[in-house]
Formats: sequence, C-alpha cells, structure tokens
Amino acid sequence: MTVCRFANMVYLQTFGGQGPDVAVCAPGRVNLIGEHTDYNQGFVLPMALPLVTVMVGTRTPGQDVSVVTGSEAVEEPKRVDFLLPTPDAPLAPGTPSWANYVKGVIQHYRARPLPGFQAVIVSSVPLGAGLSSSASLEVAVYTFLQQLCPDDADKVGKAVACQKAEHTHAGVPCGIMDQFVSVLGQESHALLIDCRTLEATPVPLADPGLVVLITNSNVRHSLTGSEYPTRRRQCEEAAALLGKSSLRDATMKDLKDAEDRLDAVMYRRAHHVIEEIQRTAGAAEALKRGAYQQFGKLMVESHNSLRDHYEVSCAELDELVAAALEVDGVYGSRMTGGGFGGCTVTLLRADAVGRAIQHIKERYSGAPSFYITTPAQGARVLRL
Ligand code: ADP
Ligand code: GAL
Repeated sequence: MTVCRFANMVYLQTFGGQGPDVAVCAPGRVNLIGEHTDYNQGFVLPMALPLVTVMVGTRTPGQDVSVVTGSEAVEEPKRVDFLLPTPDAPLAPGTPSWANYVKGVIQHYRARPLPGFQAVIVSSVPLGAGLSSSASLEVAVYTFLQQLCPDDADKVGKAVACQKAEHTHAGVPCGIMDQFVSVLGQESHALLIDCRTLEATPVPLADPGLVVLITNSNVRHSLTGSEYPTRRRQCEEAAALLGKSSLRDATMKDLKDAEDRLDAVMYRRAHHVIEEIQRTAGAAEALKRGAYQQFGKLMVESHNSLRDHYEVSCAELDELVAAALEVDGVYGSRMTGGGFGGCTVTLLRADAVGRAIQHIKERYSGAPSFYITTPAQGARVLRL
C-alpha cells in the first residue's frame, strides 16, 4: 500500500466523514558530502529521497487541531488535540515529543489566520536513522498549512521557518541543510547549497550507470543529542578565536597560524570543517564532470575526517564504510548525517550493487538495511 493510501485509511478510521481533502508530502534526504558544514556557513551536497512523510487532512470550523501519527516508532499517545496559538498563548513544546515538530511549525508558520484542522501523518522515512524524518515532517506540516492559509510561497523562507521549529520546539540547534533540501530538492539532481547565501545549484545526478546506495546501520548511540550542540559551540569558539564570523571564512593557513591559541580539540574540529567545505565544492565540480573516482576519493576523505578530526563516527559506521570500499565498482563511501549511528552513503557502479549489498551483509557485525535511491523532488501537493 502506498504511504498516501495508508494515511487516507488511518484518517477515515480516526475521523470518519468524507475523508481528507488535502494531501501533501515532503521527502527525507541523504547528504552526499559536506557534513557538519551547514551551521558553519559552508557548502553541503544533499539530495532529496523518494522516501517521504505524507500529511492528509481537512480544515475544520473553530480553533481545534487534531493530529494523528501512523508511525509505530513514536511514543504514545499517537493522537494530539490542542488549540491554535494566539499572541497571548503561543504553542509550547511538551509531550508526546513527536507532536513538538507539528506545534513548532504551526507556531512559526508565515501567514495568519490559520483555521483549525484534523490530519494524519504517515512516513516511509525511517525515524531516527539520520535520513531526516524530522525535517520531512516539519516540511510536510508547513506544506499542509500552505493549502489551508497560503503564505508568500517563498521557499527559502519556508525552510528557515521549519528550521526554527526544530530549534525552538525540538531543542536541536540544527543547520539549514535538511529543511532546505526537503523543500527545494529536484528530481535527478543533488543540490549544492551555499549555507551562507542560501543559494542552491542543482548538480545533475541521473547517470543510469551510477547508484547511490544508503546503508542503515540500525544503531543510534545516545551521544547524538548532546554532542551536536557541543560541536556547534566548538566551531563558533574556533571561528571567534580566528577572528572570523564563521569557519567558512577561515583557511588552513589561518588555522595553522593560530595553532597555539586553540586547544587540540578545537583545532581538530576546525580542521575538519575548513577542509570539508573545500572538499564539498570540489566534489560538486567532480560530479558535474562525471569524475566519479575523484568524487569517491573525496567521500572517503570526508569520512576519515569525520572519524578522526570531528569524532562523530562510530565503530558500526566505520565497519560499513570499510566493507563497502572492499567491493569492486564502489567509488566511495562515508557516514552521512549527524553521526554516532544512522546511515552510510555509497556511490557505486550500477552493476556492482548486488555484490556490494551481499558483501556488506557478510562483513557487518549488525543487521543492516539498504535503500537504492535516486534524487527526488522536494515537498509537493498530492492528488487524492
Ligand atoms: P531523523 O530526523 O534523522 O530521522 P531525529 O531524531 O532528528 O531523526 O527525528 C526523529 C523524530 O522525529 C522522531 O522520534 C519523532 O519524534 C519525529 N518524527 C519523524 N517522523 C514522524 C512521524 N511520521 N510521526 C511522528 N513523529 C515523527
Ligand atoms: C544533522 C543536522 C544538519 C547537519 C547534519 C550534519 O543532524 O540536522 O543540519 O548539521 O546533522 O551535517
């Protein structure tokens, strides 16, 4: 059953009536290269995935909002009922935590007045696997609200509002990458996003001889939550010590010249970010030229730097990357997303996919899942 049909079914079971009259979806993403660079004003190169969060629903009279999630993986209750925010009573985060993504987007939505509504959310993006189920949920909610009360249709403003929701209501000080590509992703293209100017350049990625394989480690270490804000702070401190407004403006020469003023940890963090921003620009050029070997080499350098300098990898991700790199036809492989578990992304020849999956299964100490993916379109309205 498609995700949308399942959402319709849950809607009818929950709310009855005529069924929903609005349906939208927003994709998850995989980042090909450019990790932990977005909040340093650098470059990232993600693509939107065919995996999506769908939201179906109907406007209702009054100020009530009722939302149900069809996801098995979230805490109870699966239904929340609350009132639309007012200037005197904004929506505050609470429990269940999954509803905070919905509340945050309603709070930061860029047009008023919103009507009441009832809706169902269903997702094919695995939750908590580093493929941005949370951003796809935020962007799906925003796209749904656009159908009820249109905003100015500015897509970058939309992505920024969804990022704000994650900051204020989920408590994650994320960068802009996930929400940006979930809104602006293009079929058959990766997006080179300049996180300083918020401009994006589509990079064609539709060679039938090439495959982007995602491998889910199916582990997630609890460090994820606390380490991310720490990394962000370390980068900001390093930039300040270098006299720069962000690490985007720093060179390796700047860093080396300041070595005695930075502690060793801060030095390693900045080292990763400065080189990763360069690598990402270089990787986008390589992809444009069809220089897959070069692209793959940069992916591996990125992984090694995330492991050694940024220290956000883990044994499972290192194992998956090492296994993928043993396969003939693999150009490159690296951890993707925030780290400490989640997924790897591997670029390989189409004729090597079966072999790669078999080999990774044999070599990995855990139980991996695989997604063979192509770049998909960003958030859109669905026909019911
Ligand atoms: P990721 O975004 O990488 O998948 P996060 O931990 O940042 O991982 O976000 C996952 C959280 O997002 C879930 O625990 C849940 O709170 C929320 N979420 C994502 N998709 C859904 C969904 N379909 N229904 C309800 N909550 C969801
Ligand atoms: C994600 C975060 C992104 C980005 C990424 C690391 O978890 O949401 O904004 O910083 O980690 O590249």
